[in-house]
Order: sequence, then structure tokens, then C-alpha cells
Amino acid sequence: MAKIEIRPYKPEDVETIVAILNYYIVNSTALYDYTQRTFEQQLAIFEDKLSKGFPVIVATMEERIVGFGYYSEFRFREAYKYTVEHSVYVLPNEHGKGIGKVIMESLIGLAKKQKLHTMIAVIDSENQDSVAFHEKFGFKTVAVIKETGFKFDRWLHSQFMQLMLE
Ligand SMILES: CC(C)(COP(=O)(O)OP(=O)(O)OC[C@H]1O[C@@H](n2cnc3c(N)ncnc32)[C@H](O)[C@@H]1OP(=O)(O)O)[C@@H](O)C(=O)NCCC(=O)NCCS
Repeated sequence: MAKIEIRPYKPEDVETIVAILNYYIVNSTALYDYTQRTFEQQLAIFEDKLSKGFPVIVATMEERIVGFGYYSEFRFREAYKYTVEHSVYVLPNEHGKGIGKVIMESLIGLAKKQKLHTMIAVIDSENQDSVAFHEKFGFKTVAVIKETGFKFDRWLHSQFMQLMLE
């Protein structure tokens, strides 16, 4: 199997990334958006994260983007500054090949390098694939906040999973 490589995101990656995100917006509860994102919206989201010093990374196999991940502030008040919320997405037909693992390990490494204290994943509770994935890295479920989302005509619950970094 081709090697999985990690590199920082570049603006020319947005077209591929937004297609992956839009697939999950339309077909899953992994994102709580209803409406597909445009190239410009996603570019602005990433530029905002980068301008605050947060990483956006992509995983490639033979230079083809197969996944990506990022983190940024968990909440906006100053005292939250050592806490981040992250996301990881892998191309739908490339799950189970170790791509998510390389992205997650990279994000954890970057967060430690930035001297952050804890990482939070906010996962839709129907997405038990992501819950099992996070458990592999030591994330623990710390809360399930009921009926915080409404999509596909049903209430959704937000499962908060936390990893302490130090
Ligand atoms: C969740 C997701 C990122 C996992 O990525 P992936 O590339 O399929 O995961 P990997 O192949 O790297 O697996 C890493 C580890 O997690 C485990 N894992 C991954 N998916 C799993 C599942 N559904 N059930 C149990 N374990 C799972 C693997 O067994 C592996 O463990 P190992 O290292 O002991 O073998 C991917 O499925 C995805 O993109 N899902 C849709 C988007 C999404 O839900 N993102 C998360 C939003 S919070």
C-alpha cells in the first residue's frame, strides 16, 4: 500500500477538502451543517484557523489527498486557551487503512508541541465509528449532551470525548 504522508494544508487543497466535507454533510450526521459549503466559505474557515496559529493538515497517498484534520479553539473566552477542539476526516472509500490514525497522531503531536493541555472531540452519538476511533488514542467520553442537534428529522446527541495531553 502507498505510504501515507502528512503535510500542511495549502489553499489549492480546498476544492478536494470541501468535496469530502460536503459528502459527509449530505450523507451523515458527522457534521451538523444542513447546507453544503462553498469553496470560498471553506477557504475563509481555514484562513481564520491559520491566522490564529492553529494547524490544518492533509494526508496524502501518492500526492492524492485522502484525508485531513485540524484543531482550533474549543470556546472563545481567554481562559480556554489551552483547550482545543479537533476534527479528522478520511475519504469515504479509504476508511480502515490507517489514514485517520496518521492524521490523529500528527494532531496530538502538534498540540503537545504547542503546549496545549487538552483536546476535545465533539462527536454525534450516532457516529460510533468515530467514538471507537477516538478511544484508540485514549480519548474518554466525558459527557453526552442530549438533543443538541436536529438533522434528518431527528434529534441528535453530542458526545464529548477528551484527551489530556500532559
Ligand atoms: C473516524 C475516521 C476519521 C477514522 O479514520 P480511518 O482512517 O478509517 O481510521 P484508521 O484506519 O486510521 O483506524 C485507526 C484505529 O481506529 C480504529 N477504528 C477506526 N474505525 C473504527 C470503527 N468503526 N470501529 C472500531 N475501531 C475503529 C482502527 O481499528 C484503528 O485501530 P488500530 O490502530 O488498533 O488498528 C473515519 O472513519 C472518517 O473519516 N469517518 C467519517 C468522518 C467522521 O466521522 N469524522 C470524525 C468526526 S468527529
